[in-house]
Amino acid sequence: MKHLITCKELNATDIEAIFAHASEFKRMKGLTPVSQKQFLNQTVSLIFVESSTRTRMSFEIASLNLGARVVQLFPEISSLNKGETLEDTVLDLYAMGCRYFVIRHPQSGIFDALLNIKKPGLKYINAGDGDREHPSQALLDAFTLIEKFGTLKDLRICILGDVLRSRVAKSNAIVLSRLGAKISVSGPKPLLPSKSDLPEVEIFESPDDAVRDVDVVMGLRTQMERGGTTFKPDSSYLDTYGVSKMRLKLAKKDAWVMHPGPVQRNVDIDSEIIDGPNSLILKQIENGVFVRMAIMAHMGLEMV
Ligand code: CP
Repeated sequence: MKHLITCKELNATDIEAIFAHASEFKRMKGLTPVSQKQFLNQTVSLIFVESSTRTRMSFEIASLNLGARVVQLFPEISSLNKGETLEDTVLDLYAMGCRYFVIRHPQSGIFDALLNIKKPGLKYINAGDGDREHPSQALLDAFTLIEKFGTLKDLRICILGDVLRSRVAKSNAIVLSRLGAKISVSGPKPLLPSKSDLPEVEIFESPDDAVRDVDVVMGLRTQMERGGTTFKPDSSYLDTYGVSKMRLKLAKKDAWVMHPGPVQRNVDIDSEIIDGPNSLILKQIENGVFVRMAIMAHMGLEMV
């Protein structure tokens, strides 16, 4: 695994190896002994051209736990702001010694151009490209569910909300279905994908039908920043489309609740559900550090 750009590139062996590494890192609470600090004297560059709390900070912590130095490029005070391209920015940082690039960008498919750069040891991790993919989020979600259920085989998972513009939903559809889960999705009609967008899932116009008897419900934020529709959540959104208390009663008794964050309390998900006993939301965030360490360790280093 040279890069992690799309979940389509992940086979079951990669996923199993990443989860085995993540479990081991979790057992050690991320405190790797010096002998396992595989990234000692390596420099990891975080380039987030879009806002982030969880992904950016957990990749930073993961990199530090593995012994790496971390440098962050802040787009608004970088020369990206003066018209320099992202490709030239990567080349600049490569020249300074960076080999690992964790990149978030609003443009879907931004890595297509970056992959034209051929440099020894250069590695990319997609930290979210537009509405296309967010592979590390899907891996940490699957890891969290395997911790809870042991296996994803025949687990029923419902994803509710702005599925059309969600890179999390797209990456999760690939990873969770590859591990045997059955996925239903629903949300406002303008924010529903077509079957060809998301062939791995069953699409429901009625959120209640999508949630009925599932083991897990995952809420999503409405991503107004992506445009493409005039739909805007209003005060009725939670009851009509979101993870409300009433809707959750239609799922299996004691169904677990997930959300990739950032959460919009009482819009996409009821605030009491977020803080309730069946919420996995903080567990997802906790596991994000170990899974991201595992992704980096699995990708390894090429000594150049
Ligand atoms: N889940 C997620 O990508 O959160 P951030 O945008 O805070 O990184």
